[in-house]
Amino acid sequence: MKVKSAEFVMSNSDVAKCPKNPIPEYAFIGRSNVGKSSLINMLTDRKSLAKTSGRPGKTQLINHFIINDNWFLVDLPGYGYARVSKSSKKKFQKFITNYFEQRQQLVSAFVLVDIRHQPQPIDLEFMQYLGESGIPFGIIFTKADKLKSKAIDKHVDDYCKVLLEIWEELPPYFVTSSSKKMGQEEVLNFIEVTNEEIENLRNQ
Ligand code: GTP
Ligand code: MG
Repeated sequence: MKVKSAEFVMSNSDVAKCPKNPIPEYAFIGRSNVGKSSLINMLTDRKSLAKTSGRPGKTQLINHFIINDNWFLVDLPGYGYARVSKSSKKKFQKFITNYFEQRQQLVSAFVLVDIRHQPQPIDLEFMQYLGESGIPFGIIFTKADKLKSKAIDKHVDDYCKVLLEIWEELPPYFVTSSSKKMGQEEVLNFIEVTNEEIENLRNQ
């Protein structure tokens, strides 16, 4: 898929106020600082569509972007950011879980994990939560530029082994680097094919 247009629509913390267009939506979630906002910029070929920062906790709201006027891409705050207060953490959890449980247009989530790390309980628990809530998800390994290609394969294999101890089959997964622009085509193609499947189902 070619990204011809990518525009910011709105930010908010209330799922009820999210845009109403009945178009497919894909949400990017993962630990703070894993590279969600950077990935969104890389996928859309825009330098600063989504705001990024070296300090965790940059994205604080549900951010909607409309791509090619026919699907939404959503940048979410990271989980597991230790420096926010307990009460704001709770509030965060609530608006994010409300988003995942109530957002009708959501087609798939992408859970981002840093390719350098072993599977972390917080990520596995989040995937479990998505699975139990019936929300399809894919995994996006980020920051692949930090490893050599052999190590990339090994880390992905090891991660998949752990997933297969929990799940019967692997979710779709993608190896990416925002700084090296790696994985852009794969992720966009997945979204394009999924959008086409939805369109075909609608026309049946
Ligand atoms: P929060 O909004 O705080 O949850 O973070 P985020 O997940 O949106 O991360 P963000 O995109 O802001 O990136 C966090 C840091 O990681 C920044 O310093 C980025 O430059 C860096 N980063 C993101 N993607 C990559 C990548 O592919 N490779 C490398 N080397 N660094 C990256
Ligand atoms: Mg962010």
